Amino acid sequence: MDKICVIDMGSQYTHLIVRRIRELGVYSEILPYNVSIEELKRVNPKGIVLSGGPSSVYEEDSPQLTKIFFSFVKEEKIPVLGICYGLHLIIHQLGGRIKPFKQKEYGKTELEILKPKKLFESLDKRETVWMSHGDQVESMPDGFEVLARTSTCPIAAYANERLNLFGVQFHPEVIHTQKGITILKNFVLNIVKAKKEWKLENWIEKSIENIKKEVGPKNRVILGLSGGVDSSVVAILLQKAIGSRLHSIFVNNGVLRKNEVVEVKKTFEQELKFENFHYVNAEGLFLERLKKIDDPEEKRHIIGHTFIEVFEKKTIELEKVYPDIKYLAQGTIYPDRVETSATSNASVKIKSHHNLTLPDNMTLKIIEPLKELYKDEVRKIGLQLGLPESIVLRHPFPGPGLAVRIIGPIDKKKLDILRDADKVLIDEIKKAKIYDSLWQAFCVFLPLKTVGIMGDYRTYEYICAIRVVESLDAMTANFAKLDWELLEKIGTRIINEVKGINRVVYDISNKPPSTIEYE
Ligand code: XMP
Repeated sequence: MDKICVIDMGSQYTHLIVRRIRELGVYSEILPYNVSIEELKRVNPKGIVLSGGPSSVYEEDSPQLTKIFFSFVKEEKIPVLGICYGLHLIIHQLGGRIKPFKQKEYGKTELEILKPKKLFESLDKRETVWMSHGDQVESMPDGFEVLARTSTCPIAAYANERLNLFGVQFHPEVIHTQKGITILKNFVLNIVKAKKEWKLENWIEKSIENIKKEVGPKNRVILGLSGGVDSSVVAILLQKAIGSRLHSIFVNNGVLRKNEVVEVKKTFEQELKFENFHYVNAEGLFLERLKKIDDPEEKRHIIGHTFIEVFEKKTIELEKVYPDIKYLAQGTIYPDRVETSATSNASVKIKSHHNLTLPDNMTLKIIEPLKELYKDEVRKIGLQLGLPESIVLRHPFPGPGLAVRIIGPIDKKKLDILRDADKVLIDEIKKAKIYDSLWQAFCVFLPLKTVGIMGDYRTYEYICAIRVVESLDAMTANFAKLDWELLEKIGTRIINEVKGINRVVYDISNKPPSTIEYE
């Protein structure tokens, strides 16, 4: 299959570039900036994109490509598109000059196209693009021609057609660059001439075949099913591949949302007719261990480890009955597996997000059918495989669940209050038909009591915060500017219907500097 590799120079948009290329129907994947030529030969890309990045090419220790990179792509006739830092790097490594620009250019800018050929085919003379940089090209080596400029950046795009090298100073991958997708399309389909072979229908068929082949005719597979999108899609793929030889374990960890247990059981047991669906109610154990714990990291740790313990115990129990259980399936997706420099460089981990993997002493072999996919692709596959929209289009829900949405120690009473409030919020958001346009909407229990008045009585109850955000990938997020009337309805309903809450506040923080979750 034709492939475009995106070489990661540390941009926060690296995954986004890959997603955009895949949206064009062409397979794409990420390689690190220090990828060797041998590895490049093995991967065999038809085209290469160099991502942007926060460094300056002339700085010591900035990411650089191996010296022979450019002779390699020339010999192999692989077109290269440099974006922002990538554009600088091509010029820098081939002998041109990059200089710091006194005034940083950031945000929407008008681009004037001087040569509308190839890269800019079917664009207007003036287009809006998204800039984010502090450096500029000062001089270019022979063979490079300027394709576009802005009022402050004389070389905002270039081409060297003989060497098949192209560069854009702006970011075509972000939506603020209005014709960004056309530019990427011109590169991927017209310049590289990659074939559109990345089709999810083909992927499903191939994946089912691969699972069948790998697991064989007798072995069984175990899966931790949370009811979230990823594990649900893995479950249904496996069911199609090996039927009842899939054993899914659904653990109630006591911090799930209202009706979640009933709904997940109903979907898999009744609607999707899963035969070996094992429900384990460990609510008591989890809540006992979480009693009096107020540190968020400790909550995560306890929940992660208790889950493993419960899951392991159930697996051992099942292995006694079914000795053919040989595999453990996981819902790992591409961004979980391929950290870009932008994410891995964030050396101070803000939260220990990643859901724990199972201990090495479980001798099961791992299968990760979704490991090449992005969330939106997983969702499309889920829908094609017949998973209900209520599961596929569901907002992300953290592994430690409601435990990180109650500040301080948790107990059943607070959990029930939060569950009721959250249900009101989600009902109203769905009624207003905005659920699908939001990244997440949820309630948070603040253990602070304030005074209120209900009828003739003074009340002294807790606060509920409402968090509703829009985001593309959770790396950044904006609070949603919900309609006042809708907010009023949600607030009124929560205060009237949820005993224990007498005040509702709306969170107006963006990420960064805040995070989406509270703990
Ligand atoms: P933050 O709060 O860091 O969250 O802005 C970003 C995204 O990650 C989710 N999240 C988690 N997911 N385990 C998870 O599986 C966790 O411990 C966890 N903490 C946050 C959060 O819901 C948001 O979508």
